[in-house]
Amino acid sequence: ENDSIFFRWLILLIAAINIEAKKKPSISKFLPVLNNSAILLTPSLASQCGFSMKIDHLGNAMIYTSLQNCFAQNVKDEAFTTAFQLRFHGSQLAEDEIYQMAETCHYTAWACREIICDHNYMEVSVKRAAPDNYVLPKNPIPEARKRPIDAGFRMTTITFFTPAEKVMKVIDAQRSGHGIANTPKRLVLRSPKTSPETYTQNVAGVPMLVVKTSTVFEKKWLVTRIDAAAACSVFFTADTITWYLPRRIDPLISFGQPKLLEVYMGIDGQRLDAAEIEARRYSLTVTDTYIISVIPIGAVGGYYKSHVQDGQYHISYTVEPMIEMFWTEDATHEGTRYKVFFPITTPLLPRPPQVTDRTIAAERVFKLELGYFCPDVALVNITFPSEVLSVTECRARGINVLEHMSPNSSYKVFTLEVPFTDPVVQQTSQEGATVYSLHLVFGLVVLDDFAPFSHAAYVQATLENIVPPSVSGGCDYQNFYVLVKYGTQGLNFQTAVGKQILTQSLAQQYGFAENGTHFSFIVDTTCHYAVELSSIKSRLDVTLRNLETNTIIKEFSVACNFISSLTECFPNGTMTALAVKLESVPGLNPSQLTLRDPTCGPTYSDERYAYFVFTGNSCGTTRKFLPNMMMYENEISLPDELGAKRASNSEEPEYELKVSCYYDINTTYAVAFQPRQRRNEPYAENAKGQLQVAMRLALDDSYSVFHRVEDYPITKYLQQPLYFEVELLTPASPEVSVELENCWATLDQDRTSRPRWNLIINGCANPVDQYQVIFHPVWTDARVQYPSHFKRFEVKMFAFAQDQEDLSRQLFVHCDVMICDARNPLGGVCNGQCMNPDNGNKGQRRAVSDEDKFNHVSLGPIRIS
Ligand SMILES: *[C@@H]1O[C@H](CO)[C@@H](O)[C@H](O)[C@H]1NC(C)=O
Ligand SMILES: *[C@@H]1O[C@H](CO)[C@@H](O)[C@H](O)[C@H]1NC(C)=O
Ligand SMILES: *[C@@H]1O[C@H](CO)[C@@H](O)[C@H](O)[C@H]1NC(C)=O
Ligand SMILES: *[C@@H]1O[C@H](CO)[C@@H](O)[C@H](O)[C@H]1NC(C)=O
Ligand SMILES: *[C@@H]1O[C@H](CO)[C@@H](O)[C@H](O)[C@H]1NC(C)=O
Ligand SMILES: *[C@@H]1O[C@H](CO)[C@@H](O)[C@H](O)[C@H]1NC(C)=O
Repeated sequence: ENDSIFFRWLILLIAAINIEAKKKPSISKFLPVLNNSAILLTPSLASQCGFSMKIDHLGNAMIYTSLQNCFAQNVKDEAFTTAFQLRFHGSQLAEDEIYQMAETCHYTAWACREIICDHNYMEVSVKRAAPDNYVLPKNPIPEARKRPIDAGFRMTTITFFTPAEKVMKVIDAQRSGHGIANTPKRLVLRSPKTSPETYTQNVAGVPMLVVKTSTVFEKKWLVTRIDAAAACSVFFTADTITWYLPRRIDPLISFGQPKLLEVYMGIDGQRLDAAEIEARRYSLTVTDTYIISVIPIGAVGGYYKSHVQDGQYHISYTVEPMIEMFWTEDATHEGTRYKVFFPITTPLLPRPPQVTDRTIAAERVFKLELGYFCPDVALVNITFPSEVLSVTECRARGINVLEHMSPNSSYKVFTLEVPFTDPVVQQTSQEGATVYSLHLVFGLVVLDDFAPFSHAAYVQATLENIVPPSVSGGCDYQNFYVLVKYGTQGLNFQTAVGKQILTQSLAQQYGFAENGTHFSFIVDTTCHYAVELSSIKSRLDVTLRNLETNTIIKEFSVACNFISSLTECFPNGTMTALAVKLESVPGLNPSQLTLRDPTCGPTYSDERYAYFVFTGNSCGTTRKFLPNMMMYENEISLPDELGAKRASNSEEPEYELKVSCYYDINTTYAVAFQPRQRRNEPYAENAKGQLQVAMRLALDDSYSVFHRVEDYPITKYLQQPLYFEVELLTPASPEVSVELENCWATLDQDRTSRPRWNLIINGCANPVDQYQVIFHPVWTDARVQYPSHFKRFEVKMFAFAQDQEDLSRQLFVHCDVMICDARNPLGGVCNGQCMNPDNGNKGQRRAVSDEDKFNHVSLGPIRIS
């Protein structure tokens, strides 16, 4: 800069600081180049020759050099050139890097005296002029009467005032570290601040370091001398940095009051204008005694740096203000330009790291923030009770570690996210809650000198265990009773009864009652909402759904025998039978049912059942004699005229119930009660001939592993899917296929036993079953050569309700299997078509009369857990 007697280089270290290698790049050599040969600049040479260097917190190296440094090429005290060679340490593998640089500055505004106070040296440059008479002046002589000392004069001795006089030969002074040089017009004196030839003087309460000299020049018999002095101050108070610089620096002023013409404040050798000073919240005040500059700690222009002291994190703030003054002395009119650099670093301030816990337990992740650090701190590792993980290892296993800089780059924070599922998180159970805790120690390092420090933290989060709502219930002849217990989330679900949502009005109808932890309601079994009604049970399904996601939280079914006995045979010969409408025959009107004698209608009936009372010798009851027994039989069906009407619509009689009573001498009891769907149906016959077909239960829908025979009874929980497979065992051609005609469940091993719940009817899933059978296709694989020899279906485990309290504990599943020949199709089930009574395919079933085509398979018991 033209108005400055300094060169200033800012060298940006391009290489990023490499933490892993623990290698700190730095300028290893800093070599002024003189006549193409580089000279290593040692610290003592730097202070003798007018160089200083510092590396700031960002790693920038800043080199300051006096215009009149020992190595400058000086052209008439107007142009100054300095050349450098900078050598950077390479890594172990790479070569050192060398940069050449040179800078030329022009400066002509020389004051009589120019004083610089830099970090390591004091410099004074004075106009080389002496009074006319070449005698040692007792009193200062006005400038006008001074004359330049020409080049013929030779420096011989120098006197240092310490303050005692200390005379040295110039050459000895140079050897002891002082820089003493003549330029074309000036004398330059430079002394290291540590030199024994300096002394401290209290100037207006401010201790100042002073170097004061008188240099003797000789030319033949002529002798003259030039005085040169510099004084530098050291003083500040903490928290704000306040720098007092005496306005009148006595050691530099002979007498009288100097006239202060210019004062500038600057940072890092750069002048600042008033607006900049204000923007940075600095202040510069000139009083009668002092020039006072104030810099708040942390202000722009300085920087923080990290330190570790006794294992604790500390910071310091460093700023390098500059004051520049220009004054003239009344007596001599000689001007002095005084420039002082004053690097100030605060004492270490403890700055304990802070951990902010930003965890939201419901997110199941610990979120921590660790702050606040200077930018020169790095997180190296995290120590958990079980292991130490580097930051890279943390990231690799899903612990998210990030580094954040504040927007103005003044501080750094680290964030850490540890999922609750990570093994480093400890879990303990408390009443109804799980406590997650995390002990950790952050391992940090100050990058500059790799000083390690650590900070321990402990956090915990509590998550209430989520217990879903539960449903229980039962039924009697009249009603289903349902009790819903809320889970931990309270009443935040939707309830559906059957297919209907439990609205407020419906709730009212159902006698809904609520007490804060439970609600209950009662559904009449005769109510048309009753979901399932067959000959043996009625069933109510209750579904709880999540309001937000609409997913099912809980499904509950209660199924009851709401009629305990369907047929009774009294000792006096009276028989009673209850014919219950099957859901699979929705069009049936029970009041139209009769016994064999069409005049024998129900004693009473309603829309769901008909109750018949008859005797052994009425209503077409037949009688059979068996050994030690007598059997009475009758049938309940639609009378012929109604049946015929249906037949003309090519429909089958839909309902037939065979009622039998066996009587022995002493007791009577009911043994059979068989609703049948069709007349003449080959039904419930025992298997004939060899076993051709097998049924087994797979463990899952891959149908690769099966329960073995010796596993039975096997246990399943309610609603657990059961995977059935039926296989044709007898070797047969691929044209032969197995088809499932009917499949049903019973409580008893006897396939004809009651009650019975239909799963598959005529090859179709029972349409009234809420948990319908799912058919699974069969593909060829290692086990399956011909898919046509297999049938697979899935049904959810269910239970019969035997009485109001207990669900019966086991069931058996049976199937009627058809063996079909593709070359000679029989139609119906053999077509692979579902024979749903609603789809009009009924006639075809009639064609199958070949009972040999049937096989019967059974499986069980399957127990309910
Ligand atoms: C540098 O070179 C100049 C001329 O090129 C010469 O006068 C001077 O003595 C040399 N200095 C050194 C230290 O070699
Ligand atoms: C940087 O910003 C923080 C807040 O974001 C503030 O506290 C601090 O004083 C700022 N530093 C500087 C140097 O502006
Ligand atoms: C973890 O980092 C700290 C701080 O840098 C260091 O002192 C310690 O040795 C490191 N521990 C391991 C196991 O690397
Ligand atoms: C609410 O009703 C249920 C079932 O009747 C009962 O177990 C529970 O104790 C009741 N809770 C309160 C707070 O009354
Ligand atoms: C037969 O006994 C039953 C039950 O005891 C009774 O209800 C019925 O009336 C009796 N029938 C006759 C004809 O006595
Ligand atoms: C019927 O009762 C007689 C005697 O009262 C008894 O000997 C006979 O075993 C009983 N028959 C049956 C089938 O229980």
